[in-house]
Amino acid sequence: MARLTGKFALITGGSSGIGLETARQFMAEGAIVAITGRDEAALARAKEALGADLITLISDAGNIAGQAELAQAIKRLWGRLDILFINAGDVTHLPLADWNEATYQQAINTNFSGPFFLIQKLLPLFTRPSSIILCGSTSVHIGLPQSSVYAASKAALLSLARTLSGELIGQGIRVNGLSPGPTDTPAMKKLGLPAEEEAALRKTIVELVPAGELGSPADIAHAAVYLASDESRFMVGTEMLVDGGVANL
Ligand SMILES: NC(=O)c1ccc[n+]([C@@H]2O[C@H](COP(=O)([O-])OP(=O)(O)OC[C@H]3O[C@@H](n4cnc5c(N)ncnc54)[C@H](OP(=O)(O)O)[C@@H]3O)[C@@H](O)[C@H]2O)c1
Repeated sequence: MARLTGKFALITGGSSGIGLETARQFMAEGAIVAITGRDEAALARAKEALGADLITLISDAGNIAGQAELAQAIKRLWGRLDILFINAGDVTHLPLADWNEATYQQAINTNFSGPFFLIQKLLPLFTRPSSIILCGSTSVHIGLPQSSVYAASKAALLSLARTLSGELIGQGIRVNGLSPGPTDTPAMKKLGLPAEEEAALRKTIVELVPAGELGSPADIAHAAVYLASDESRFMVGTEMLVDGGVANL
């Protein structure tokens, strides 16, 4: 039997990269899946790629007030939720001197505040058992230049795996982190670098990875399927690193 048969799953930021591949794998395992994103055209392309059963919802993870609206949409659609993958992230990397209040707040809102209030608003919908997966990053564990706000916001998000598991495990809700290492997604293209600079950055990033190559979205999605499924029922309040050895070697 498929591993997620009959489960209802919401993935934030599912029109590209890790979120899109996770939606594909969740559906292949029998889940009913909704994804969010900010761009209607990108969501339409995702639906074309994954099929008409995929539900797409416009929602900005960094808009705190908008999280109640997203939870309402899920309530209207399904009236319940078995799996939440907090995947949408602001990946801005800047030297300390270049941050301003707007870029700082946007990153914190998208990576921490929005997800926190989304979980709060979805609370009445979670089934027993259910699984919340928080997309962190291996950057939380290393001192990568320019990652100050990104790594801090992901560290805050990952801390919710412990505290919210402590608070919610009695209701059958498990919360765990899933931290990718450098992964080959369209995220790098979105930095808008000239081709030569992008190639140089890619080379620098690959050199960071003891495994010698970037991960694929499928590598991360396999772990998300495990964390979403009841196979991981004894994993509670922890973090799964899928990072080619970056944090530990
Ligand atoms: N790629 C890596 O090397 C890597 C490493 C460690 C951790 N991660 C984490 O993995 C997650 C996914 O990254 P990715 O590499 O798959 O990126 P990606 O290919 O750029 O995909 C990001 C997805 O999230 C959506 N998104 C971005 N900001 C959003 C917002 N404010 N509200 C709603 N949706 C939003 C994007 O759609 P729209 O832009 O159209 O809204 C897109 O669907 C992120 O949390 C990132 O921090 C990635």
